[in-house]
Amino acid sequence: MDKTSVHNKEWEPKIIAFLCNWCSYAGADLAGVSRFQYPPNIRIIRVPCSGRVSPNILLDALKSGADGVLVSGCHPGDCHYISGNLFARRRFALFKRFIEFLGIEPGRLNFSWISAAEGEQFAKVVTEVTERVRALGPARRLVKEI
Ligand code: FES
Repeated sequence: MDKTSVHNKEWEPKIIAFLCNWCSYAGADLAGVSRFQYPPNIRIIRVPCSGRVSPNILLDALKSGADGVLVSGCHPGDCHYISGNLFARRRFALFKRFIEFLGIEPGRLNFSWISAAEGEQFAKVVTEVTERVRALGPARRLVKEI
């Protein structure tokens, strides 16, 4: 059986989560403190604002072996830099269409709003994203085989 097969028990999705420092990262922290259960498949990168996450960074994550990415920021109206999250949403929507054009499943890219008070919501989003990416299987289109 292929080592990367979806049916192989060894394979677990790797998801890189870019979380805004002011809201979603604090939401992740609250989820941990509150002991809400969520899959251990995400690796969190704290960013100053979701508007700071460029498509290049997301592409790099997928090229480096991530099976999916999650970008999460403050709710509309709550961004500490006024409208970074709105720029992020627009950029992300366009990037998702572009990535689909490249033949990458759009389900590998995920975007959400999670506030510092939404620990339970954080756990729910991570669970949903993990299951979505798991159903897609390993991402291989952008990874160079050696
Ligand atoms: S500061 Fe949180 S999304 Fe901008």
